[in-house]
Amino acid sequence: MKYINISTAVLVVSIFSSTVFAEEEPKNLKEVMQRIEVNMSKIVGHIMREEFSDIAIAAEKVAVHDEPPLSHRLKMIAELKTDFPDFKSHDDDVHLNSVAMQEAAEKKDLKSIIESYGKTLQSCNNCHTKYRKRIQKLKF
Ligand code: HEC
Repeated sequence: MKYINISTAVLVVSIFSSTVFAEEEPKNLKEVMQRIEVNMSKIVGHIMREEFSDIAIAAEKVAVHDEPPLSHRLKMIAELKTDFPDFKSHDDDVHLNSVAMQEAAEKKDLKSIIESYGKTLQSCNNCHTKYRKRIQKLKF
């Protein structure tokens, strides 16, 4: 009886962890982007309701977002070559501006939250206009 319980527990744990793992590993950059989009959209609603701790949580998720698989990152570097540092700098801009948004949320400073939200969104768009088509050619 004891053994049955243990094996049942192991089975439950392994099903649970494989589900969690699947959610943690985005399959490509598009999926990374869709997750960032979800958090950016949530922030708009939280701004309207002045839900500062929820803004801070979502802004942190934007700041420390997932990465695409290593093999994809290597292909991006190979495609972009000397443009890669510029591509990366747009991601750094997203990081800095979303960290500023998180800090503003912790201070309940709505004006700064909205300013840094705007700067974050601008950083998203700067990368899209320059690099989206080039990355899409890689067909991940
Ligand atoms: C360093 C460059 C870069 C930055 C910064 C960036 N993106 Fe993207 N994003 C891309 C690329 C490249 C694609 C195209 C991916 C593809 O179609 O395979 C994309 C696509 C998208 C898409 C479309 C996904 C789909 O379903 O087709 C969304 C939504 C998106 N990004 C949201 C964001 C948001 C929100 C931010 C800022 C918080 C952001 N991105 C910042 C490079 C970037």
